[in-house]
Amino acid sequence: MQNKKKHPDIKEILLLEKVIRKKVSELAAVINRDYRGKKPILVSILKGSVVFLCDLIRQLEIPVVLDFMSVSSYAGDSESSGVVRLLMDMRESIVGRDVLIIEDIIDTGLTLSYLKRNLMTRKPSSLKICVLLDKKACRKIEIKVDYAGFVIPNKFCVGYGLDYNQFYRELPYIGVLKPEIYRTAHRKI
Ligand code: IMP
Ligand code: MG
Repeated sequence: MQNKKKHPDIKEILLLEKVIRKKVSELAAVINRDYRGKKPILVSILKGSVVFLCDLIRQLEIPVVLDFMSVSSYAGDSESSGVVRLLMDMRESIVGRDVLIIEDIIDTGLTLSYLKRNLMTRKPSSLKICVLLDKKACRKIEIKVDYAGFVIPNKFCVGYGLDYNQFYRELPYIGVLKPEIYRTAHRKI
């Protein structure tokens, strides 16, 4: 498969399409093994994790139920506000179910720790976390990540579902934006 040409706003490509594909297969293999005989509910956190979710589930050999939640911790900026808001709840009941949260990236950990606390009150049988990207050095709160694709440096990334001001999600690779984009992007398009 051919990579799309590098977007002019991208300074460097951090993870190529083929590198992501290999990692997603590896994660799926571990999840297939760990959940053998189970029917977990995968809770994908909108919108960033949908590309990852779609690639991941097509490598799964266990039956899964999909659900979605939407939270916001960034108010259209490149730094976390630290305030997490629930924008959309999931539909399914998770009482007695095995739940696996699918998230694109963990940074401070505030979003996932909020979600974990929230979902634990609903009495799932188990609750685990799967992220594609882990900015390990940026954690403000301790939280266990059960499945992590790549540990990445503290650089603002876009592509493969990740956005800046809602753009760049369609890029098939994960890249770092040019700094001048932050400086000018606050002008509303
Ligand atoms: P946390 O609450 O600080 O862990 O942030 C998690 C959320 O912040 C993710 O779900 C993303 O939506 C967003 N985020 C953190 N780092 C990045 C990044 O480098 N690019 C795009 N979004 C990011
Ligand atoms: Mg997100």
